[in-house]
Amino acid sequence: MAEVFKNYINGKWVDAKSGKTFENRNPANWDDLIGVFPKSGPEDVEEAVKAAKKAFESWRLVPPPKRADIVKKAADLLVQRKEEIAREMTREMGKILLETRGDVQEGIDTGYYAAGEGRRLFSYTTTSELPNKFAMAIRLPVGVAGVITPWNFPMAIPTWKIFPALVAGNTVVFKPASDTPKTATTLVQILEEAGVPEGVVNLVHGGGNEVGMAIVKHPDVNLISFTGSTAVGKVISREASDTLKRVSLEMGGKNAQIVLEDANLELALDGVLWGAFGTSGQRCTATSRLILHEAIYDQFIEMLVERVKKLKVGNGLDESTEMGPIINEAQLNKIHQYVEIGKQEGAKLLIGGHRLTGGEYDKGWFYAPTIFVDVHPKMRIAQEEIFGPVLCVIKVKSFEEAIEVLNDSSYGLSSSVYTRDVNKAFKAIRDIQAGITYINAPTIGAETHLPFGGVKQTGNGHREGGWTVFDFFTEIKTVYIDYSDRLQRAQIDTYKE
Ligand code: UN1
Repeated sequence: MAEVFKNYINGKWVDAKSGKTFENRNPANWDDLIGVFPKSGPEDVEEAVKAAKKAFESWRLVPPPKRADIVKKAADLLVQRKEEIAREMTREMGKILLETRGDVQEGIDTGYYAAGEGRRLFSYTTTSELPNKFAMAIRLPVGVAGVITPWNFPMAIPTWKIFPALVAGNTVVFKPASDTPKTATTLVQILEEAGVPEGVVNLVHGGGNEVGMAIVKHPDVNLISFTGSTAVGKVISREASDTLKRVSLEMGGKNAQIVLEDANLELALDGVLWGAFGTSGQRCTATSRLILHEAIYDQFIEMLVERVKKLKVGNGLDESTEMGPIINEAQLNKIHQYVEIGKQEGAKLLIGGHRLTGGEYDKGWFYAPTIFVDVHPKMRIAQEEIFGPVLCVIKVKSFEEAIEVLNDSSYGLSSSVYTRDVNKAFKAIRDIQAGITYINAPTIGAETHLPFGGVKQTGNGHREGGWTVFDFFTEIKTVYIDYSDRLQRAQIDTYKE
């Protein structure tokens, strides 16, 4: 019998009102049924929002350091259960253990950082133009936060949103990706154990159209924090405009790594392998374009193919595996379609480009690490997000051309430049159109106490991570306190000794 999981609404574990369920299976072995989860609908969202709205009245009055204590306790529990959660996550979404441990660690780091902010959460006091008058701006929670998260970082990304949302005093309605409901359930169980009061965090499983959209449209949800595709983000942005919700969108990428002629090639090689094939390329920060200076083009490609040939693809629970499966069949088909498009466009397929079969591969969604060379920057494979282990290599003649090609994208999340020339490094930092630039490091590896987000079609101007996420999860109130005992008119009365 499959294990049956539930929604968490108003402090209780409950089924979907309709009684419907969906299955969750291991992408490395589809015979392995992880569990059965509630296939919820707008009626379940209604209950969750009602609970969150009611809980907000008392949660907003809990002193921030006390709210932060609960988040710290949750991070402590993640520390205790790190290995177990990492294994569970690999089973659920496939990425290798090394990476799922990192994913849990990202949640821990986020928790401790956010908890620390409970004793700060600063705004500012400033001067007044009038005597005997005090002026300041304070931070208040916004209200009910709708949190909609993807499957590629099933612990890290929900914590990026939920932990600061709670410290800031908001209550939460959480809809995780339907490919990773188990890890989301574990996080909510941990929050419950850490002492989150009833109604403060509510979990509603199910699809984007039924559950996600009901959260986005609900008039009592005050803000939406979303990470996922640009296509879905645009729909959310439109649907949320009717109720004038605050919306933070963290979406696609087409990140590039530049390798200049003076770079440490071994270092650049390690970087691109990690950036392109880590998480089977299923990261919004993945390296999907490699821009090589012509002087090192042939040599670097030879080095790259040598290493890619040796990459061990398999079940992520095996410690020797270097790349796990693709999340599901639809995603695998999408990757393969892009490979076909690349071939039709005239790019040269150097290695990979097919599904892996035989042995354990026959029961999972495994795809070979794939490299295209002779890629023109305008080709669809160089412009559209593939979200898989496909690397497109582009040759350039100069540093300036490399930057131009990198910027020729509708996305702008992460970027990387390998060079030992400090002048070029600083010019790249200034001229690259992206939210994140790494020098001599791959496009993946963001740290939780720094801002995370992108420009162009990657985002809508907000930044998660670090201090900046608190700007999204708080409302600013400006306060004037006049202790002069008379009417003082700003801009009209002149100050006299
Ligand atoms: C994502 O792919 O959606 O920098 C997030 C990184 C990770 C986060 C990625 N820390 O790659």
